[in-house]
Amino acid sequence: HGTAKTNKLGHLEIGGVDTVQLAEKYGTPLYIYDVALIRDRARAFKRTFENAGITAQVAYASKAFSTVAMVQLAAEEHLSLDVVSGGELYTALTAGFPMEKIHFHGNNKSYEELVMAIEHNIGCIVVDNFYELEMLKEVCKEKNKTTKILLRVTPGIEAHTHDYILTGQEDSKFGFDLQNGQADEAMRLALEANLMEVLGLHCHIGSQIFETTGFILATQKIFEKLQQWKKDMSFESTVLNLGGGFGIRYTDEDDPIPAAQYVEEIIAEVKKQASLYSMKLPEIWIEPGRSLVGDAGTTLYRIGSSKDIPNVRKYVAIDGGMSDNIRPALYQAKYEAVLANRVLDQPEETVSIAGKCCESGDMLIWDLPLPKSGSQDVLAVFCTGAYGYSMSNNYNRIPRPAVVFLEDSKETLIVRRETYEDMVKLDLPLKEKVKS
Ligand code: LLP
Repeated sequence: HGTAKTNKLGHLEIGGVDTVQLAEKYGTPLYIYDVALIRDRARAFKRTFENAGITAQVAYASKAFSTVAMVQLAAEEHLSLDVVSGGELYTALTAGFPMEKIHFHGNNKSYEELVMAIEHNIGCIVVDNFYELEMLKEVCKEKNKTTKILLRVTPGIEAHTHDYILTGQEDSKFGFDLQNGQADEAMRLALEANLMEVLGLHCHIGSQIFETTGFILATQKIFEKLQQWKKDMSFESTVLNLGGGFGIRYTDEDDPIPAAQYVEEIIAEVKKQASLYSMKLPEIWIEPGRSLVGDAGTTLYRIGSSKDIPNVRKYVAIDGGMSDNIRPALYQAKYEAVLANRVLDQPEETVSIAGKCCESGDMLIWDLPLPKSGSQDVLAVFCTGAYGYSMSNNYNRIPRPAVVFLEDSKETLIVRRETYEDMVKLDLPLKEKVKS
């Protein structure tokens, strides 16, 4: 997919750049991104709204992969930005991202984070709970500023996905419950607070979702409520933000619908509901993370040791693992991979790819068909663009890999590799260096 292909040397090439040469030049592990593919994905979302004549914002959920260069790429593609912490907001500030197109999420924003958001006049704050609503009122008063808000609601819809990443069901830490009166109370309080302009509602029903049913049901639940609020509080929503969660294909086991189809079906339902209740059509906002950057990212590793247990399994170890991709260990996530330096070689054995962390659970891929491999080979693991680098860590004091953008046969280093000095840079010694 994307610009990935096999070049004359039989190497994996992405964005017109030989990945084996990249592995040599920048070292491994290395995250690489097919920038043209990210642009395509962004444009497809935007085009679908434009074709339907819908006013929309496509906000990149930067938690999927937040760096200064990535945020700048999002700006180039005229995306809005979803941030969930002061750190992600600071990244956007550093990148020079337009503040009015930033949406601030989170179920426990701190006072300092709200001050930061208000001082920078960010586009909208997605208010999650009563504590935040109260605190935001105070911050607005202190700073003598107004802000636009959305209320995050939990519509009680369970999206078909992995348990760990469900956020839309009733028993959720996020948002005001739509069924039990809390959303009504929140709306009443928000409308009373004259320093806040309530644009509308937000919900996010889950992640890596393969079908539209959940989005449709959530839309219906929300419109039932909006109809009631129109009657009871004369409130009309100008924005409906349906979150992210559009699934991608990691392996053949995944069967998502095309990104445009999610959007088309959402638009159709919103139009239907608005006309059913004679309401004006709200703007539709979405917040894709994974579906914008997931399959654009690939991780390159160097193969090292292997361990053959006859009649049981062959382990092949790579020079990274759960420190650069925690998803297999955390969610039993599955990936596909090839030998980047010998793409055309036929698979000869089935191996399991082990990480280098001191933990048995640090397995990247179970039962992967591969040509016979050795320590010179470069393994390319696909679809690591979302929640790979962003969830990377320094377990075992393993430095985080570098990140390189690839486009038009050019490479750009966008995050440098961490060094051993970086591993100790926050550490304060107990005493002067121990002398031997
Ligand atoms: N909007 C909100 C409010 C969210 O909570 C999320 C993701 C998104 C948008 C973007 O969802 P996406 O389009 O990327 O599915 N670490 C997990 C995923 C956690 C998702 C959390 N929220 C993983 O690696 O699968």
